[in-house]
Amino acid sequence: MIKVLFVCLGNICRSPLAEAIFNHKLHNLGLVQKFQSDSCGTSDYHIGELPDERTIACAKRHQIPINHRARQLNRVDIREFDYILAMDQSNKQNILELIQKCNLQHEQLYLIREFQPDANHLDVPDPYYGGEDGFENVYQILDKSIDKFLEHLKVEHQAYV
Ligand code: 4NP
Repeated sequence: MIKVLFVCLGNICRSPLAEAIFNHKLHNLGLVQKFQSDSCGTSDYHIGELPDERTIACAKRHQIPINHRARQLNRVDIREFDYILAMDQSNKQNILELIQKCNLQHEQLYLIREFQPDANHLDVPDPYYGGEDGFENVYQILDKSIDKFLEHLKVEHQAYV
């Protein structure tokens, strides 16, 4: 079982959508049994909340099931997850600070847009203070990035995926 964690700031916009898209693609590929995924935020702002209603609307528009309650990243996540995918450089910095504070190591910490071939920059823009179109933009970025991430997993775990 390969464990994948998606991380943003609040865990109500970007990372729960990424997790939902990833799970939906796994389902379509018949790979659900091989992976376990989750998402979380580096902040404690929205612990226990459902995804933002604009995130839910976006997932619905694309017919992607979404079911998550926000939670905060913790040190156990660093040990447990094989892949940690941060939505932006600030999230990645926060993750690195936790790794250092806890004297841990992590070999597979990425920005999710490192996998997007035509990315013009490496951050998934934070849509929280914007409108619906920001969420659609996030969806398009995540959809492309996750396709390529799955290809990466295929290469890295050939016998498995
Ligand atoms: P997310 O978006 O990190 O993609 O979940 C945000 C959600 C909430 C806040 C910021 C970003 N906030 O400041 O409450």
